[in-house]
Amino acid sequence: MNNPPLVEKPRCYTVQGGARLSGRVQVEGSKNAVLPLLAATLLTDEPVTLHNVPIVEDVRTMSALLSHLGKGINACDSEYRLSENGALQPHAPDTLVRRMRASFIVLGPLLARLGEARVPLPGGCVLGPRPVDFHLKGLQALGAQVELHEGVVHARASKLHGAPVYLDFPSVGATQHLLMTAALIPEKTTLYNPAHEPEVYELIALLNSMGAQVQAWPDRLEVAGQARLRGSVHRVIADRINAGTYLIAGAISGGQVTVECVPAHLEALLVKLKEAGCTVEEAPNEVRLSAPARVRGVQLETRTYPGFPNDVQPQMMALLTLAQGDSLIRETIFADRFGQVPELARMGAQIRVAGDSAFIHGVERLEGAEVHTTDIRAGAALMLAGLAAHGQTRVIDRGHIGRGYVDLAGKLRQLGASIEVKEAS
Ligand code: UD1
Repeated sequence: MNNPPLVEKPRCYTVQGGARLSGRVQVEGSKNAVLPLLAATLLTDEPVTLHNVPIVEDVRTMSALLSHLGKGINACDSEYRLSENGALQPHAPDTLVRRMRASFIVLGPLLARLGEARVPLPGGCVLGPRPVDFHLKGLQALGAQVELHEGVVHARASKLHGAPVYLDFPSVGATQHLLMTAALIPEKTTLYNPAHEPEVYELIALLNSMGAQVQAWPDRLEVAGQARLRGSVHRVIADRINAGTYLIAGAISGGQVTVECVPAHLEALLVKLKEAGCTVEEAPNEVRLSAPARVRGVQLETRTYPGFPNDVQPQMMALLTLAQGDSLIRETIFADRFGQVPELARMGAQIRVAGDSAFIHGVERLEGAEVHTTDIRAGAALMLAGLAAHGQTRVIDRGHIGRGYVDLAGKLRQLGASIEVKEAS
């Protein structure tokens, strides 16, 4: 299966339920934004400096991959400076690419720089089948010859050319991958039906500052690429998914929290939290949430941005297990994003899954239990459920939570949670 290999030692988070969270939390830079920004440094031989980089396991994986490909990385806290000392090399190793799906997007930049690249098919969270057909069809439309040998994608092109490219679905990864590739083609490429997630706009900002000209329209992205791109300096936006996680932590504990983030990136979640009975106030760089003793059930569907983000769906489900009344969650982005359901059920949640829908009958209380994480966000959901459960919850995590959160337990403790972290056997 696609489980990430154990990079960190397994951990046991012992969460003592019952504390009402209060206080303020500053969210780290966005993991999903920074991974393509790091990959985009392959497009130039000049230095690129990134500020506000979250030091999470996925960033370590991408850094290790870029070092292997020939980038020099100078990291000082959350500031990363990437430069090139010698020639890039075009082969990405299986061990690193398997750890994380986002590593696949180095293929196009390497191809555009070197005329060839070999990248194994990716791994990552187990969220059902996650093909890369849109990525490959797009590269072919730009003039690449693509072959698959023993699980490794070989891409070659004596000369890439601009072209109209249509995505069957507004895939975030494929949009970012093709944007980067097109940025180094000195012709015009139009990407129809692209993703509009904030993390795509982060990449556009970096590419434009490197000398490409990317223009965004509701139905398309137009890229006027350059034969050479220059270095740049960029500050990574706050992680909207992690911000959502801390807001839901406040809600599930019946508390009052202030989360420093970009409120406009969280509208779909904020609307649902209000529907559930929370009071939500938006200020320019923060959201203040005050929760009732018990929230109300709501219905939601995950959608591409600005719809409800599927990366917050497991945490929202944890909240709704304790709601007054019934809730319905429809997951429309990934085939298997309900990994948290059997674990929440161990804690007493009443959830019935049928196809892409989860029917949740709110219960008055959850009971602490030993539960296991299956992916980053399911892991966060179990931590949140533990905050509200009666007694102790032991969350056993085999390297998932640290892939996407900088010190989740520490930040929750800062808000008043009681969580102990130990190595698990
Ligand atoms: C990114 C995010 C992930 C988020 C997801 C959707 C990163 C590192 N990860 O993942 O956290 O949950 O967007 O917002 O930014 N698909 C295909 N063929 C393809 C590509 C995608 O069928 O070639 C399908 C996928 O299986 C999925 C859907 O399209 O059902 C959306 O996937 P996509 O937007 O590509 O997600 P990622 O970029 O992998």
